[in-house]
Amino acid sequence: MIKTTFSKKDPFVETSDVLVMFATGDKWLASPSSKKLDQALGGLISRRAKQISFGADQGEVMDIVPNGKTSFASLRIVGLGAHMPTDSFEHLKIVGTTMRWLRGQRHVKKVSVLLPAEPAAGFFHNAVMAAHLGTYDFSKKVSQTPSSLKSVVFFAPQSLGDVHGTAVVKHAAAVAQGVMLARTLVNEPADTCTPAMLANTAKKIGDTPGMTATIWDKARIKKEGMDLFLAVARGSDLPPKFIILEWAPRGTAKQKPVVVVGKGLTFDSGGMNLKTAEGMLTMKADMGGSAAALGFMKAVSLVKPKKRIIMLVAACENMGNGSAYKPGDIITGRGKLSVEIHNTDAEGRLTLADALSYAVDQNPERIVDLATLTGAVVVALGMETTGLFSNDDAMADELLKAAKGAGEDMWRMPLNSRLMKLIVPPAADLKNTGGRWGGSITAALFLQAFVKDTPWAHLDIAGPADTAKAEGHLSFGGTGVGVATLAQWLMPPEHGHG
Ligand code: BES
Ligand code: MN
Ligand code: ZN
Repeated sequence: MIKTTFSKKDPFVETSDVLVMFATGDKWLASPSSKKLDQALGGLISRRAKQISFGADQGEVMDIVPNGKTSFASLRIVGLGAHMPTDSFEHLKIVGTTMRWLRGQRHVKKVSVLLPAEPAAGFFHNAVMAAHLGTYDFSKKVSQTPSSLKSVVFFAPQSLGDVHGTAVVKHAAAVAQGVMLARTLVNEPADTCTPAMLANTAKKIGDTPGMTATIWDKARIKKEGMDLFLAVARGSDLPPKFIILEWAPRGTAKQKPVVVVGKGLTFDSGGMNLKTAEGMLTMKADMGGSAAALGFMKAVSLVKPKKRIIMLVAACENMGNGSAYKPGDIITGRGKLSVEIHNTDAEGRLTLADALSYAVDQNPERIVDLATLTGAVVVALGMETTGLFSNDDAMADELLKAAKGAGEDMWRMPLNSRLMKLIVPPAADLKNTGGRWGGSITAALFLQAFVKDTPWAHLDIAGPADTAKAEGHLSFGGTGVGVATLAQWLMPPEHGHG
């Protein structure tokens, strides 16, 4: 992880390998800092801009190597477009792309970034996030030369006044660290990222004062009556773990907690209803929900909000050994509803049902779950969008707003009760599939049966949890989707220029 800091000094005096500046509209050269620098360089910037017809289009770049004695070895000017973009995703994309490029420059160790004179709300925070996320890399290529980029220093132009820069950088770096932990957990193969490994990750986060990790083994899970979870876990040789992380800093013991639940299938083969080769290939990522939940708790341990938060993960594999659960089985879990198994590949909702039933008993203020739950939500919304389902309009609106602020795409889906009949069989309270049509909705309806009236939201992240392409602030593989939205929702950065 690179180091990010804030400095009140003059970026034209501080040493760096590359100085990054931003340009907006056709009058960007008239801004005080551009003008000052252009003059100091004897008109080099304005001449070069004219020469290459630099238009400050979004993503357009201009590199200048001053031949005089400057404190920076080279200058990169990055176009933001005709107007300052207000969308967080655009901020992340533009700065992430710049950072990805810098990371690939062999000799670049230290970068200075001068923030725009009139940045949009959130630009600074997003830029710091993108500095970390755009330079994140999981590659295990033995042949790869490691990047030499070590630090990025952010400078605010005088026009920004008294910016609480250090606080913004610290907050953004904390959230980014959570996102990167989530990415790494997703990227780690199922061979290493096992239920026990997720439990150990939670234990490490539990080392912070105020944070407590509790891990239940199979016997304790059995005692709790979580037979749906255990049915899924049964077909694997790896023991399941029920992971509880509680953040309760001083003075919050009496608060009703917000409970965050993550789907933690460290591998989903489909079980006896075995997936196809193609369908199984990315299923090490079926713990993306738990990765986001753990990443968020990591960020919580760093930001330390005065809010009680509980995280739950029912972690196991869905495999098909001789003890595996079977289609036709009827199982009653902790939530006291009998479930007829129609497809062993609809396993996530079973593990979540037991976790949600436990969540409801924690006297929660609200519950949110994150899960790579259905292929159907990817058909509905595509690869980049989280499907939001909620029984509470206010909560849904808050989450949509938080996602927007975090630069993550989210769309509300209906919890259409007319479809309830699709998951009610003759011989049990529920069945675990509702057929092809509305597949993400019937999955959400199934979960709703276990939360009852508790304000709850379900985030189906099957699409955006991983990506095949490194682009902007997103790296190949795990995206850490959900972490930044939860952070924006439950512990937003302080007002000001964050
Ligand atoms: N983990 C999958 C959902 C998934 C699919 C995530 C593609 C990411 C990409 C889930 O456990 C699953 O297998 N769901 C089935 C449900 C069906 C059997 C009712 C699905 O979506 O096909
Ligand atoms: Mn499955
Ligand atoms: Zn699954």
